[in-house]
Amino acid sequence: MATGEAPGKVILVGEHAVVYARPAIAVPVWETRATASVLQSPRGSGCTIDAHDMGEELLLAEAGEREPLALVTRLALQQLGLGPDPDWRIQVRSDIPVASGMGSGAAVSAAVVRAIFREAGTEPEPETVSALVYASEEIHHGTPSGIDNTVVAYGRPVWFVRGQQPEVFSSARTFALAIADSGMASSTRVMVEGVRARRERSQQAYHACFDEIGEISRKARAAIEAGRPEALGPLFDRNQRLLEQIGVSTPQLEHLVQAAREAGAGGAKLSGAGGGGNVIALVTAERVEAVSDALRSAGARRVIVTTVGSSESG
Ligand code: PMV
Repeated sequence: MATGEAPGKVILVGEHAVVYARPAIAVPVWETRATASVLQSPRGSGCTIDAHDMGEELLLAEAGEREPLALVTRLALQQLGLGPDPDWRIQVRSDIPVASGMGSGAAVSAAVVRAIFREAGTEPEPETVSALVYASEEIHHGTPSGIDNTVVAYGRPVWFVRGQQPEVFSSARTFALAIADSGMASSTRVMVEGVRARRERSQQAYHACFDEIGEISRKARAAIEAGRPEALGPLFDRNQRLLEQIGVSTPQLEHLVQAAREAGAGGAKLSGAGGGGNVIALVTAERVEAVSDALRSAGARRVIVTTVGSSESG
């Protein structure tokens, strides 16, 4: 039996501005992950993909073109020069929240690619995992930004500028984030379209916001690489105010942000598309419990605490 794993992700800074060619940073969340195992099945039974956490069980030979797990499996088999329907049962498990901006789809695909390569006796390069996950997401979603597949494939912080090769970088010191799920679903596409429509009416103001967010991303990377993660706190706070200005925050997200700050977080902001989804708060070891409790009391459905820079492997 061969297994593969991949982490969830959150966007640290730079969301939305990244659509307008400013840099963004995303980090892996290893405390929540996807795993895949390849088990041998009786001869002639073909390949089954069992993803019952996601409510799916597929026969590879019968799965449609647009089924992402079937697609990534086919791409990995092709890349390895294996037959199209091996006698395997691929078991996929994930505790990454779905449709919440944590990259669950990309992580599940990355875990499947790793498990298939290992079953074939080879270790895939992160570049290969990233490219195969991207190709499967591209057919499914149209034009994914490339941030999710890169973070889940490398399992390290990623510096992302649209149209450029994503860069992975390291954190000189570990730091912790509390990730609070607001429990409100939101559509990334709808949020991005909303920003686009409002930007049409006030181009200058929006571009000034995007420029400042880009500057925040640069300062955040410098702080992480220099081992000064505490400098991220004020950058999160400033980024949150700019996200409010471009209209992607909500009173509920702001309530969570405020609760985290009052409980001693170094800074807090929404993460991802906004309109719902997650809030992230920078926390020290001393404040992590208090901040997590405050977030739950303020209505967070789930709080995941992640340490960035502690486990950089898959
Ligand atoms: O909701 P997420 O984590 O997939 O983030 C969306 C980030 C945006 O910048 C709003 C959109 C994008 O494609 O980068």
